[in-house]
Amino acid sequence: MQAWVIGNWKQNPATSHDVNALLDDLLTAVDTEEQVVKNSCRLMVAPSCIHLAAVSVRLKDTSVLCAAQDISAHSANTGAYTGDCSAQQVVDAGATWTILGHSERRQYHQESHECLLQKLTHALTQNLGVVFCIGETQAQYDDKQTLPVIDTQLSVIKDLLAQQPELTASLSERLIIAYEPVWAIGTGKVPTVAEVSATHQHIKQTVAGFADSLDTMTVLYGGSVNVDNADSFAADPMIDGALVGGASLKAESFLAIAEAFSRAMA
Ligand code: PGA
Repeated sequence: MQAWVIGNWKQNPATSHDVNALLDDLLTAVDTEEQVVKNSCRLMVAPSCIHLAAVSVRLKDTSVLCAAQDISAHSANTGAYTGDCSAQQVVDAGATWTILGHSERRQYHQESHECLLQKLTHALTQNLGVVFCIGETQAQYDDKQTLPVIDTQLSVIKDLLAQQPELTASLSERLIIAYEPVWAIGTGKVPTVAEVSATHQHIKQTVAGFADSLDTMTVLYGGSVNVDNADSFAADPMIDGALVGGASLKAESFLAIAEAFSRAMA
C-alpha cells in the first residue's frame, strides 16, 4: 500500500519565476530522496491552470504527478464556456489527475451535486484521475452533522455509477477521496486523529457499499496539515495520505510531510 501526498497550490505562486523556483527546490530534493520514500509515497502537485502546461513539462519523467485543480462542468472538450478549461484541455496540458469539489469551489462557485456529477463524468471519460474533496463546515461540525453531510457529498459517486456503470471497474484506480473539514482549511485548527480516523472509516465503508470494487478506497486527510502534525495523522491506518495547501508551497515542508507518511508505511 502506498501513501499519497498531494500539494494543492491554489492561486499560488504569483509568477512563473516563483513556480520554477518551487519546482527547482522540489525536484532537487525528490532526486536525492531515498528509494524507500519514493516507493512508499506518491507525490502529486496541482498548480493553477495557467501554470499547468509548464509544470507538467518539468515533471515529465519524474516521480511527481501533475493535477489540475478543477475542470469545466459544461463540456469535456470544447464549447462556448468563457473562462473554463475542459478535461480534454487539462489532459492535453499534461495533467493526469484533477482535484474536484474542493470546498473553495463549493463555496465561491456554488458547485452543486449536479455540477460535480458532470465534472466527475467529464474527468473520468477523458481518463483523468479524480481527487474528490468532501467535508463539513464549522457549523455542521458543531451540530454533529459531519457524517450526514459527507454522505450527501459522497452520493455524487453513487449517482455517477448508476449513470455510468461501465466506469465501476476502473474507478478504484482513478478516484481518491480527500476528507477536508472546511473549518480546518488554512486555519491551523485540526480535528483529532481519532475523529479523522472514524470519519475515514465511515467514508471507506460508504464507498464500498456503492460497488464491491471500491472496498480499498484511498482516503486522504486535508486541512492545516503541517510538519508538526503529519506524523500523528500518518500513524493512523485509516489515513492514507494528505492533501496539503499552505505547507505545499515550500518544498521542504511538503517533502517532510511526505516523509512522515513514507515512514508510517515502512
Ligand atoms: P491547507 O489547505 O493545508 O492550507 O489547510 C488544504 C486544502 O485546502 O486542500
